[in-house]
Parts: sequence; structure tokens; C-alpha cells
Amino acid sequence: MNFDDSDRLRTLLKINGFVEVENLQNADFVIINTCCVRQHAENRAISFLCSHKLLKNKKIFCLVGCVPSLYRDEIFKKYEFIDIICGTNSYKKFVSVLKNYNGEKISIFEEDEGFLREPLIPAAKNKLSSFLSITKGCENFCSYCVVPYTRGKLVSKPSNIVINEIKQLVEKGVKEIFLIGQNVNEYGKDIGERFVDLLYKISEIEGILRIGFLTSHPKDIPDELIDCFVNIKKLYKHLHLPLQSGSNKILKLMNRKYTAEKYLEIIEKVRKKVNNISITSDIIVGFPYEEKKDFLETYNLVKKIEFDDLFVFKYSPRPQTKASEFLDTVSEEEKRERHFHILNLQDKISLLKNKKVEGQILDTFIKEKSFKKENTYIGRTETNKPVLVNFQKDITGKVLKIRVIEGLRHYFIGEVL
Ligand code: 5AD
Ligand code: SF4
Repeated sequence: MNFDDSDRLRTLLKINGFVEVENLQNADFVIINTCCVRQHAENRAISFLCSHKLLKNKKIFCLVGCVPSLYRDEIFKKYEFIDIICGTNSYKKFVSVLKNYNGEKISIFEEDEGFLREPLIPAAKNKLSSFLSITKGCENFCSYCVVPYTRGKLVSKPSNIVINEIKQLVEKGVKEIFLIGQNVNEYGKDIGERFVDLLYKISEIEGILRIGFLTSHPKDIPDELIDCFVNIKKLYKHLHLPLQSGSNKILKLMNRKYTAEKYLEIIEKVRKKVNNISITSDIIVGFPYEEKKDFLETYNLVKKIEFDDLFVFKYSPRPQTKASEFLDTVSEEEKRERHFHILNLQDKISLLKNKKVEGQILDTFIKEKSFKKENTYIGRTETNKPVLVNFQKDITGKVLKIRVIEGLRHYFIGEVL
């Protein structure tokens, strides 16, 4: 989401005559786009800024995105070297302020319709893949999550605009598109459209070879969506479905609106219908009141489900959220330990799963050239897993048959047939 925001802002700046510089030393304006989903992301943005504040007398410092949306004018009090702050939905106003900047401290949080109306991000030259936001905001209010407070209500981009944007991307050479939103399955609720219909429409666009989407909420997985994995050949057979916890007590406190049993039922249904689908997930460890037995329920469920991959986060209290009113009962050390154990388990599961693929021949989209090794290309299998192959000439942008020679923890090594 942040990459897409940055791309849009970059485009707006370019259209308005600004030039991106390679070296920060040469910049007049320094713009930092920020995420605050966990404390760690926030710290990274602020420490980047602080480490460059010595350059301050020559530059205008701008902090944009989720961090200023959350803290608003407090930012100026804490970091007096910041000049402009701007929320996630106000980029048009931001650019017009930069054009006539008068040196005063300015906060910009007036929402504009840039998300819906702005002409598309021109893809960089030779860019084969692009993210595309189809919704913004979220109204699910999971108790740990700051997104509803930083990005506001759900707004869907009408399908005719999405299709038009993808066609423009195709003209610029894009062949793979990732539709993104906080919960893409809720796409269209506000404008009388449906996510599955959008997927079918996009699949008809000539020139698009692969389609992926992120993220889905387990409460919104209709049968028609599962059917898309079978009916749409261009769609990656990959579902990222955050579980967050395997304990019903914790899921309730998280306001996730499903139980562990219900989650398992969905996984079984999806796997039954879609052969070999890759399923990945997110887990939060150390949520308030997560006792050892709750953690064990998560651990055992992860073991039972055998995800293809897993992102594990230590719980981080976020301002304004419901969970930030709970006691942060799990010590940092215990969080670290739970994080370690579950990642360790997942390492073993992923490696075993990937080993089982050795010898198979897979249709693979060759996405990019490796910048580390000569004559090496990085592809994505039909299940959106990375494959490294060696080849003497440029094969980027093609779908090729690849034999998997070796399955490793995070990727495959393959050969072009
Ligand atoms: N603490 C830890 N992890 C979080 N996530 C979201 N909010 C928090 C938080 N406060 C994780 C969830 C989500 C992913 C994008 O980030 O697992 O799915
Ligand atoms: Fe946050 Fe996702 Fe829950 Fe929305 S659905 S509140 S973005 S975790």
C-alpha cells in the first residue's frame, strides 16, 4: 500500500515539474512516506529523518502518510526540524503547497479525491509488475490495528477506472498486476460492485499474464472467490489469509469475527477445490492476555494447517486502538520466544513443502533479472513462489516451463525446459 502511495505521489510530483534526485544531498525537498502499523515501522521513518537532520538548513523536510495521520501536530512539537506534514489522502494539496512553499510549518489533512480520479502512475521503464490499490481504508476495527484511524473508511475505486488504469499499465509494459487493499474481498461494498466480478474483468485484459491480490479477511471468502482460482488461469493460486491467532479467546479480543474452527474449515474448503494452492498467513504473538495455552493453540494450528509461508509479528500497542487500552501482559522476552518458536516451526514446514516440489515442471512467469548473479533470472510459479533460473539470454516477461531442481526454504532453484 505504501509503495503504491509513493508511486502516486511520485507521479503527481513529476507531472508538476519536480525532478527526483538520486542523491539526497542534491534535494531541495526530502519527502518521507511512512507506515505506522507497528512501532518498528514508525521508528524506522523517524530515525531516518533524525539521522539526516543535520542537512536541515538546506532542505525542506516533509513527513507524509500514516505517521502524521496518527499524530497530527504533535509531530511538530517533537521534531522541530520537520516543515510539512501530510496525511494519506491529501497528496494533491501537498503538491500544490510544495509548488508555492513559503517556509511556514504546514499540516495538510484535507482529503482529496486523488485516489479515485488521479490518472495512473506511469510505470517505470521496463517495469513488468505493478501494485494497484483498488480500495483504501478499512472499517473492520480489529482491536490491535491502527489502519482504520490512519486511512479512514472503505472507499472502492470503480471497476471502469481500475480497468482503464491496468490498460494504461499494460501499454507501459506491465504484465503482472497485484490488486491491493486492506481487505480486497470487501471491494465494491460501497459502490455496488463485487471483487470476483472485477477479477473476471481484469482477466480479460490482453497483455496481463498474471494477477495477484492482497489481503483477504477470513470473514469474507465466498465460494465464488475460491472458484476464481480454478476458472482464471492468470490468477496466482495463492491466498494470503491472515489468521492472527489460533486461540478463540484471543481472536475474540482481537475482534476478528471468526473462530479457529471456522478458519480451518475455510482452508480445507479452499484446498479441496484448488489443487496445490499456496496459502500464507500473518500471526501476532504476545497479544494482551495471550497465555501459554493460547500460544500453544496457535502453534498447534499452524502445525496442522502447514502454511506455505508465514509472517509473524510481535504485538505492538498502537495509539487510539481498542487493544491499547488492554494491559500489555506478555513480556518482551516472552514475545521474542514465541516469535522464535513459531518461525522455527514454519521454517521446517516451508522447507519440507518446497522439497516435495522437486522434479515438478511448473509454468513460471519470469519477472526480473537478478542483480546479484549474472545470467540469472527470478520467476514466479503459478502459486507465486520465487524460482531462480540460469539462462544465457534475456527471458524476462515470458511464461516458461521450469523444472524445479531444488526446493529451499524461501525459493526454488530451477532450469528452463
Ligand atoms: N502489532 C503487531 N502486529 C500487527 N499487525 C497489524 N497491527 C499490528 C500490531 N499492532 C500485523 C497483522 C497484520 C499485518 C499486516 O501486521 O498480522 O495482518
Ligand atoms: Fe486492520 Fe486488516 Fe483488521 Fe482492517 S481488516 S482493521 S486493515 S487488520
